[in-house]
Amino acid sequence: MSGGYFEIGKPVSDERFFGRKKELAQLEFFLHNNQSIVIIAPRKYGKTSLVKKYLSCVTDKLIIEIDLMRYLSKKEIADAVIDKCYENIGTKKAIHQMKSGMLSFSKKLASMVKINMGVLELEGLERFFHTDVMSEDEYLLYAFEFVEKFALSTGKKAIFFIDEFAELSKFSDTAIMGQLRSIIQHQQHTAYIFAGSQPTLMNTLFLDKNEPFFKFATVLTLGAIDEKSFSQYARMLFEKEKMICDDSTISDIYTFCGGVAYYLSLSMMFLWMMKPSTCTPQIIDEVQSKVLEVSAFGFENEIIALKRRKYFLEIVLTIANGTNPYTLKTTQRQNINTILKSLELDGVILKKTDGFVLSDTVFGKYLRTVMG
Ligand SMILES: Nc1ncnc2c1ncn2[C@@H]1O[C@H](COP(=O)(O)OP(=O)(O)O)[C@@H](O)[C@H]1O
Ligand SMILES: [Mg+2]
Repeated sequence: MSGGYFEIGKPVSDERFFGRKKELAQLEFFLHNNQSIVIIAPRKYGKTSLVKKYLSCVTDKLIIEIDLMRYLSKKEIADAVIDKCYENIGTKKAIHQMKSGMLSFSKKLASMVKINMGVLELEGLERFFHTDVMSEDEYLLYAFEFVEKFALSTGKKAIFFIDEFAELSKFSDTAIMGQLRSIIQHQQHTAYIFAGSQPTLMNTLFLDKNEPFFKFATVLTLGAIDEKSFSQYARMLFEKEKMICDDSTISDIYTFCGGVAYYLSLSMMFLWMMKPSTCTPQIIDEVQSKVLEVSAFGFENEIIALKRRKYFLEIVLTIANGTNPYTLKTTQRQNINTILKSLELDGVILKKTDGFVLSDTVFGKYLRTVMG
């Protein structure tokens, strides 16, 4: 294996990807039937990796992928959507080329692929040169319409993956969300995958009957990686590297990470870098300290954010310590309710049948270490 085999924080879709067989089958099932899907899980659980893994196996469809976290305006989103359509037929930075007159559509594109230029010419091209006179809202809606037209004109179905979908509410009011939905719900050639990290917000967008995206897509809630597939992967990697690691040690790694994909792959990265001949308890301790160490900066920022709001940190701390948050004496029950709701909305805590837990168990461990 080469030097940079593991890379911190980048979504993975190659042989480093483990587990998620059931979820991949679900994606295949729904998208094969042109049914849109929404994937909900806290950050680091592996949403982006899962979708990228799935898409890496799709060969007969157009793929449009955008991460809303990356864009600052609706115009940027719309530009990206149209560019990504063209990338499917080998044209990079189509918008720029169109505007600078470098791309001559009718002939060049039509010769590159069997493309029905009729649709694109009438509906698309002349409008590109007039995007300045469209409002940003109109342009965004137009870009979403464009995906379907593009699919139609190439004779292929499209899969449109919108990552961090909840970010859209940062740009859009309810009215435009409603218009967006009415455009995409009639599309016959485009299926959507939405993913988002603020579980409650995503749930609201898709499960609240007052929200425009209600019942638009099947909801898939992504949980921890299942332990069996992680241990299988770990054993395979250890064998390859001629390292000895017994099953209970692998299980300890899994437990420390709470099954969260990001920490599992981070732990494997450190083990792979250290390459001990045997994974002793000391080695595992060292791995855990390293995981905490590289996460500390992010955790400190989370702590600062929690401290800004009265009692938030205290409540998170009680949950991290496995104590019932309602035992907190400093504030009233009603206030605790509101705070718990808000923490759940932000994906910091998860509601389980027997109470609340932190969605990030390693963050919990960090809090216990630095604050007790
Ligand atoms: N199925 C998986 N197998 C291996 N590593 C994974 C898997 N899913 C996620 N990861 C690791 O976790 C990290 C975070 O995953 P990502 O897909 O970006 O999560 P999310 O989109 O939910 O925030 C990735 O950098 C990758 O290293
Ligand atoms: Mg992601």
